[in-house]
Amino acid sequence: MGDATGTPLRTAVIIGSTRDGRFGPVVADWITGHIGEREDMTADVVDLVETPLPTVFPAFGQAPSEEVVARLGAVTPRLAEADAFVIVTPEYNHSFPAALKNALDWHNEQWHAKPVGFVSYGGLAGGLRAVEHLRVVLAELHAVTIRNTVSFHNYGEIFGADGRPTDPGCEVAAKAMLDQLTWWAHALREARSLRPYAV
Ligand SMILES: Cc1cc2nc3c(=O)[nH]c(=O)nc-3n(C[C@H](O)[C@H](O)[C@H](O)COP(=O)(O)O)c2cc1C
Repeated sequence: MGDATGTPLRTAVIIGSTRDGRFGPVVADWITGHIGEREDMTADVVDLVETPLPTVFPAFGQAPSEEVVARLGAVTPRLAEADAFVIVTPEYNHSFPAALKNALDWHNEQWHAKPVGFVSYGGLAGGLRAVEHLRVVLAELHAVTIRNTVSFHNYGEIFGADGRPTDPGCEVAAKAMLDQLTWWAHALREARSLRPYAV
């Protein structure tokens, strides 16, 4: 089901960790499965390992090199087309990974007036400190962060061998977050189509 445009909400699922042996894709597959079951959303998984972005930025006013343009070309249009984002993030040193910050910093208007939901994982804190840091950064980028999160505390004890959480409460949390995300995505897509977002 879409909104007045009749089009399902294009949702970019961003895998925030790039570590060898990372757990992130398990979590991303799980939430992408939830999105796939909904008629009002489609998912595009943006994996920063498959589409690495440079960490050296051009000087202000300087055109990026061809290599930088090519690398951005694998990510930027997908963020621009997204109506909503789900960021899947672990907690690194009480915050979110550097590769994810880099992906945020390479972009600006692609985030404007769009909603962002979070699925986090970590130790005792379940990645919630990473999420709270992301909220501050995304406010600077004119994004709207979703109140409810899905967070996996001591995630190693929660996921079964099938790559799904064993606690049914996780499915409830995913639905609540995605319901809020789609409400905002519909509202903001309609608003952007009526009136371009101006900064
Ligand atoms: C550099 C680094 C810092 C970490 N810092 C934290 C932390 O502050 N809090 C926490 O709960 N877990 C921390 N962890 C554990 C990670 O949450 C855990 O290793 C998780 O699997 C990382 O996600 P990934 O496997 O997708 O890379 C840290 C892991 C790494 C590699």
